[in-house]
Amino acid sequence: MLKPSDGKPSYSSLLPIYPLLAQQCVDDYGLDSGICLDIGTGNGYVGTEIAKITHMDVYFIDIEAEAIDFARRTVTQTDIDNEVFFVEADVCTKLPFAGNFADFIISRGSIWFWEDKVKGLAEIYRVLKVGGIALVGSGLGRYVPFTMRARLAGGHKNMLHKQGRKRLTLEEMKTLALEAGIPSFKVMLDAPGDKGRWIEIHKYV
Ligand SMILES: C[S@@+](CC[C@H](N)C(=O)[O-])C[C@H]1O[C@@H](n2cnc3c(N)ncnc32)[C@H](O)[C@@H]1O
Repeated sequence: MLKPSDGKPSYSSLLPIYPLLAQQCVDDYGLDSGICLDIGTGNGYVGTEIAKITHMDVYFIDIEAEAIDFARRTVTQTDIDNEVFFVEADVCTKLPFAGNFADFIISRGSIWFWEDKVKGLAEIYRVLKVGGIALVGSGLGRYVPFTMRARLAGGHKNMLHKQGRKRLTLEEMKTLALEAGIPSFKVMLDAPGDKGRWIEIHKYV
């Protein structure tokens, strides 16, 4: 899991974005109840913010035991009564769920780390319910106001640079989704002119 020494902007500087991203997902996809997976949960902030404003059961999933512990602490410190589950798993091998399991899947800031991105996306599609939606990628979310976006953007660029990683282009993301055999998806920018990028996956049949 990323630690303060990893050269990232600290998670405390990112804290304001998580409720905004959760609200965006609720508004865009009409989230209310059912099963939500937060894949590559890290600190657990995305899933926790979704839990706060929905009745969804939330699964916090990460390849790192340390991240799962962090997510558990985040949830424990939050006043929510949703059903929550903590699962140590690698999205690139096999998620421990049957097909057609989750109503909504979010994975923010994790795909860049996946050893096998095609397999990871295929796993997400497999466990997504018919009628469900998955959002995979990275970004602050389009509800983040311009001033906050400008303040956080520089730090994020540094983080990727120090980790020796680069963002995937929209074209690369599209190719990955096609190679994963996903028939219905769109790739999109986080916000007009922004560098964050997402794959929005729908499962119709
Ligand atoms: C930059 S953090 C993002 C944390 C959180 N989603 C957020 O937006 O703040 C990336 C997380 O992805 C996790 N991760 C990396 N590869 C993974 C994999 N193959 N399966 C599941 N989680 C993975 C890492 O352990 C890390 O906690």
